Amino acid sequence: MSKTLLKATNIAHKFDYQLFSDIDFEIKEKECKAILGRSGSGKSTLLHIFSTFIKPNIGEVELLNKNIYELNENDIESIRRYDLGIIFQAHYLFKGMTAIENLEIATILSGKSIDKNLIEKLEITENMGQKIGDLSGGQQQRVSIARVLSKKPKIIFADEPTGNLDKETANLVMKVLLEYVQENSAGMVLVTHDEAMARMCNRSYKLENSKLELL
Ligand SMILES: Nc1ncnc2c1ncn2[C@@H]1O[C@H](COP(=O)(O)OP(=O)(O)O)[C@@H](O)[C@H]1O
Ligand SMILES: [Mg+2]
Repeated sequence: MSKTLLKATNIAHKFDYQLFSDIDFEIKEKECKAILGRSGSGKSTLLHIFSTFIKPNIGEVELLNKNIYELNENDIESIRRYDLGIIFQAHYLFKGMTAIENLEIATILSGKSIDKNLIEKLEITENMGQKIGDLSGGQQQRVSIARVLSKKPKIIFADEPTGNLDKETANLVMKVLLEYVQENSAGMVLVTHDEAMARMCNRSYKLENSKLELL
């Protein structure tokens, strides 16, 4: 039986207005689920809730079978460092360093080693010696994905990871992410506005009228 990696129950949250309520969501090993929805519907907020960064007004989140609201700061920090792979819209690379140095920082922090195969699959082998500032946006995006996957996370949270990429590169990145999930028995929550990307996942949901509907 495949294990549950993420289980969110009865989530509700509001900022200035009610974003969503009654949201139940689960990710098992080797599962990728996509979340679609209009801009402002709360997709990024929901991803931040699932990944420990925002506490919802109502509801529980379990990561790797642990209720995250019963954990102390050190435990949360350790889950973020070892178990979660966060690919958000802005990529937090160290601009003055080379691509390979950015990957080394991630692997040193997580106690893993650099995966040359992954770098080849992402077609950034030639860029490893270059400074981040000298890379194109699409190359930076792929370095940042390589950095996240180098940590060997169990659960990937990706917020529009292919949003700034041309179609061919977007497909390549999606393929690498899905292969990673299968090969490592990981899971992925993908926020996207691209229905073609969503169709590559096991299931797609739409955040609309404050509810998360299975498509
Ligand atoms: N930290 C915050 N404080 C107040 N309002 C916020 C905050 N984060 C997001 N919002 C508001 O919540 C709504 C949903 O935002 P977001 O989750 O980013 O939507 P999406 O990712 O679907 O575009 C927006 O109206 C946004 O302004
Ligand atoms: Mg967003």
